[in-house]
Amino acid sequence: MLPHSLLLLLTAALATSNSNTLDQIPLEAPLPTTFPWIQRFASIGDSYSAGLGAGGRLDFYCSRYAKSYPNILHTSLLGHNQNRTHQFLACSGQTSTEILETQVPALSHDLDLLTISAGGNDIGLSPILSNCVYQFYMASEDDCKTSIQEAAQRVASKDQLYKNITTLISATKPKMSPHGIIYLTGYAGFFGVDDDGCDNVTWAVWSTVESSKQYLKLELREALNALVRAVNSVLLDVVSDSGPGVRFIDYNAHIEALRGRYCEAGVAEPAPNRPALAFYEWDTMDSGEDPKKLRNRTGEDVPKDSFEGDIAKRINKTLREHPEWEFDPDKGFVNKTKAGGVDDKGAVGDTIHWLLPDSWKRVFHLRPEGHEVVARLLLEHLEKNGNGMKKDRLEL
Ligand SMILES: *[C@@H]1O[C@H](CO)[C@@H](O)[C@H](O)[C@H]1NC(C)=O
Ligand SMILES: *[C@@H]1O[C@H](CO)[C@@H](O)[C@H](O)[C@H]1NC(C)=O
Ligand SMILES: *[C@@H]1O[C@H](CO)[C@@H](O)[C@H](O)[C@H]1NC(C)=O
Ligand SMILES: *[C@@H]1O[C@H](CO)[C@@H](O)[C@H](O)[C@H]1NC(C)=O
Ligand SMILES: *[C@@H]1O[C@H](CO)[C@@H](O)[C@H](O)[C@H]1NC(C)=O
Ligand SMILES: *[C@@H]1O[C@H](CO)[C@@H](O)[C@H](O)[C@H]1NC(C)=O
Repeated sequence: MLPHSLLLLLTAALATSNSNTLDQIPLEAPLPTTFPWIQRFASIGDSYSAGLGAGGRLDFYCSRYAKSYPNILHTSLLGHNQNRTHQFLACSGQTSTEILETQVPALSHDLDLLTISAGGNDIGLSPILSNCVYQFYMASEDDCKTSIQEAAQRVASKDQLYKNITTLISATKPKMSPHGIIYLTGYAGFFGVDDDGCDNVTWAVWSTVESSKQYLKLELREALNALVRAVNSVLLDVVSDSGPGVRFIDYNAHIEALRGRYCEAGVAEPAPNRPALAFYEWDTMDSGEDPKKLRNRTGEDVPKDSFEGDIAKRINKTLREHPEWEFDPDKGFVNKTKAGGVDDKGAVGDTIHWLLPDSWKRVFHLRPEGHEVVARLLLEHLEKNGNGMKKDRLEL
């Protein structure tokens, strides 16, 4: 269920954007369906489908959220259809191989519509962010460069990303009905690259070690954007080679046109609550969210092999290797000795606790407005191209 007030705000936010096609459909009430043929709908993928952090949490283990594009489609944009079911299986942190092994077997049969997001974790997005941006391990500039290079190799090699996504899509085809459609969604570049206004900005979590901090320099921002473009280009190749029932949604240019990225020209970062911002930044608060609650929500138990469990493990490891540090939700890692009181607040026991507050863990993921862009592009494409019976070729 989507809270009514949030929907109104969303509609208002989109109405002020410069995209005319996006604001024609009112979101207030479920619409009579224009897609009676979509009765069996399913969504698989990673955190970009699960919607990590966007809206209300639907699931703990996989971090599925209500304002994810699959859930926006099912609960609102596809219109009301009492006969439609939605299998929402996307799981934050999963690679295409994991999606293949755990989500695909759970899909029901005769699907009319399937959405997929995959590839980001295959190429190692989380080590890149860890080494180049968060720096959990106090990673150096070289670690950052190395992880970007390794990712670029996986993207370029035909038997890595291309092959794995092709395998994933092939495995889903037997689950589709004869007229069923598969939509693969891409990724969007995170950074504006029109000026050097971000060159002195850092999002490193080690708040007091100046010498090791990575800054969001133009060169780094361009390298990360180029990587995302390269991933999208491989995904488009996979889709083109997968036949008429498979389509690609590339929303990169739309997020750029909305000035939705970090470090857009003329924006002095941090600007976490800039309305056009399509991604979460440190301290972004969506409308209706309680900042205190978001900052406080640390120390929850999280499942061991979940996305959050993995990050909690990284933090745990860091704390083990640097006993003089502790984790402060407001400041990041701080030097206990310097701060004065030595206590074991930052220590982690056998249970994995989620140490990062909600306001941090969703950074680099789409906000509800970003998911709305993806959902509406997909809807527009469906309206123009209908079901797979038409055998249209994708043109984007
Ligand atoms: C739902 O299914 C019933 C029974 O098959 C059918 O009569 C009805 O028209 C369907 N409704 C929609 C919105 O497709
Ligand atoms: C592709 O899949 C193979 C087999 O599961 C795996 O070893 C490899 O790491 C994957 N490559 C990427 C880029 O995910
Ligand atoms: C970064 O540089 C800009 C201008 O070059 C300045 O206005 C801003 O205060 C600086 N920010 C930080 C965090 O040093
Ligand atoms: C946040 O945590 C502090 C310290 O534990 C507590 O005093 C405060 O009431 C909490 N605030 C909220 C909104 O939960
Ligand atoms: C932490 O602070 C203590 C006391 O100021 C200092 O000796 C130590 O080197 C600091 N540790 C790091 C990693 O900065
Ligand atoms: C976290 O660290 C403690 C020791 O500091 C260790 O006993 C525990 O197993 C660790 N947990 C995980 C999930 O790594």
